[in-house]
Amino acid sequence: MQLLQDRIRKDGKIKEGNVLKVDSFLNHQMDIQLFEEIGKEFKRRFEGEKINKILTIEASGIGIACVVAQSFGVPVVFAKKNQTKNIAGDVYTTKVESFTHGRVYDIIVAKEFLGKGDRVLLIDDFLANGMALEGLAELVQLSGAELVGAGIVIEKGFQQGGDLLRSQGIRIESLAIIDSMNEKTGEIVFRD
Ligand code: G4P
Ligand code: NA
Ligand code: NA
Repeated sequence: MQLLQDRIRKDGKIKEGNVLKVDSFLNHQMDIQLFEEIGKEFKRRFEGEKINKILTIEASGIGIACVVAQSFGVPVVFAKKNQTKNIAGDVYTTKVESFTHGRVYDIIVAKEFLGKGDRVLLIDDFLANGMALEGLAELVQLSGAELVGAGIVIEKGFQQGGDLLRSQGIRIESLAIIDSMNEKTGEIVFRD
């Protein structure tokens, strides 16, 4: 998606450890006009697919997922990262191992909001190691819902998440795939 690539080149900041900061339009301040265009692009890419629910994960996926859900005209559910350990009520849960943060956490979604008959599109802002997205796919499977695919705003193509999930047969549509970035020169190479 050219508009998004241009925006990443213009406002993205490359930090140590191959981290791309996009706080001015995606992760902190949010450019809702851009989000709307992103929503339309996902709608176009998943044209013809029956989708009745968007699933994302807190925190930074929620904003973008809401706008995407608007373009699909369906509700959005966000998986919660369980910190308290006392899981309330009837839920699906799975563990996510974060390499970046060096910890394991539970993600949960109430059975009430995901189940048989649902056709689900996963949405997230970043795909890097892919552990969170894999966890979401697991929740969909546990619930008996159908996973249609995943829409990602920025995929870091040099980390293994994309390959991992595609090899599991999950359809992943990433609007910008970064093959490399250089902290010193600021150069970003996008996949065609
Ligand atoms: P994993 O290490 O746990 O497998 O996850 P992943 O690679 O997907 O990345 C860990 C977290 O860091 C994720 O956020 C992900 O969105 C974010 N992330 C990874 N690479 C980058 C990057 O280059 N730039 C930015 N801005 N974020 C990146 P999260 O754990 O879901 O937390 P939250 O921010 O959504 O609360
Ligand atoms: Na994040
Ligand atoms: Na995220």
